Amino acid sequence: MTAHPIDLVDTDDPSVEAEAILRRQNARESSARTYARSFPIVPARAQGMTIEGADGRRYLDCLSGAGTLALGHNHPVVTEAVRRTIDSGAPLHVLDLATPQKDDFTEALFATLPSAFADHARVHFCGPAGTDAVEAALKLTQTATGRRGMLAFTGAYHGMTTGALAVTGSVAVKEPVAGIAADVTRLPYPYDYRCPFGVGGERGAELSATYVERLIDDPSGGVTPPAAMILEVVQGEGGVVPAPDAWLRRMRRITAERRIPLIVDEVQTGAGRTGAFWAVEHSGIVPDVMVMSKAIGGSLPLAVLVYHEDYDDWLPGAHTGTFRGNTLAMATGAATLRHIAREGLTERAAVVGALMMERLSQARAALPVIGDVRGRGLMIGVELVDPEGVPDSRGALPPAPRLAAEVRAACLERGLIVELGGRHDSTVRLLPPLTITDEQAETVLDRLTDALAAVTAPRLAGRPA
Ligand SMILES: Cc1ncc(COP(=O)(O)O)c(C=O)c1O
Repeated sequence: MTAHPIDLVDTDDPSVEAEAILRRQNARESSARTYARSFPIVPARAQGMTIEGADGRRYLDCLSGAGTLALGHNHPVVTEAVRRTIDSGAPLHVLDLATPQKDDFTEALFATLPSAFADHARVHFCGPAGTDAVEAALKLTQTATGRRGMLAFTGAYHGMTTGALAVTGSVAVKEPVAGIAADVTRLPYPYDYRCPFGVGGERGAELSATYVERLIDDPSGGVTPPAAMILEVVQGEGGVVPAPDAWLRRMRRITAERRIPLIVDEVQTGAGRTGAFWAVEHSGIVPDVMVMSKAIGGSLPLAVLVYHEDYDDWLPGAHTGTFRGNTLAMATGAATLRHIAREGLTERAAVVGALMMERLSQARAALPVIGDVRGRGLMIGVELVDPEGVPDSRGALPPAPRLAAEVRAACLERGLIVELGGRHDSTVRLLPPLTITDEQAETVLDRLTDALAAVTAPRLAGRPA
């Protein structure tokens, strides 16, 4: 085998070696790679909220594996669960056979669920990605109702496989895939800052609910009776857009009255992230189906579907798959769920998140590029806008995607990892671990506001007085 020319790096200098790794990966990896483009770093070690690159540089990680690392990197509770499981000689892969680890994980998971849901729930272990659990949710409700259509929302993100992509909002990722989403009815998600009805606030959310209700009841509305409605309580990839509790309760009432199963996708909001163990708890709604992944595996891949037992009439093998018995992930997941509950990290997420949002809102006065600050718990979004653009009827300024990308890069230079999301990729998203200390929260905000000031100062300086 001939060596790839860029392989030929012989050096003890860690920065040179890191550069070589980046060059090799850039040359060989798919052009669809994502985060690797925004963050040209080579993580070599990580502990808690800190990642250390192969070149020795350290970063505070506010991306946390897209919300996966509830306890940060390599938390002792997680690494101890890995060691204990390996030392026990347990099989690491068993398809979906019953194991002590699966039994224990199920017990730990059900203990976290609202009892009104848990008391009548079944769990299905899916292939280890949120998107597979979304596929399972669609299939489950289609099987149970004998219908096909789905109700889904603007701004939604549910994954990248065919069904999940169909219910996702982003046009850019759907456009190249012909024929996707034929059976999906897109409904307006309440988005205060960029209200689909141009009014915002409670009124905007009320209009959304009224529209949903009237559309599905309209015999000429073009919507055949749907198999389910799927929604996120806080849209994550959609730009950290929280739905009002009253709106969620109306969605629950509308769907219950029409016997439409309600699927709540808690892949990103689950396990304490929003300041409640499950985001549905804020509004008190009890869904028919909940989709879970990311943090429930305690850093390792795991995805499950939990649903009301009444829907449990799909056939054996209806949603099978090889990797549905990841023993290590079940052990780290159970340990993580219990740790979050025992240490009150959910309440901590609510308190620190509120403080961070308050400081960011205060920063708006000095940084007009901040259009909106929103979120719930430690799921925070800072929507960046063009302060010199023309405001819409509600005063919202145009999104600022280029500037947002520059801010992300400026954050990285300052040792802070933040990702973008939302419409036009203009929202800076903060997803720190629930274990973030007050000091780390301050440092995150200092670095972010410093990056915002550095990126915007030259532009504003050029502005006529
Ligand atoms: C709400 C939501 N659903 C589903 C998914 C898909 O999960 P995965 O990337 O593990 O397939 C994501 C991923 O970010 C998500 O945020």
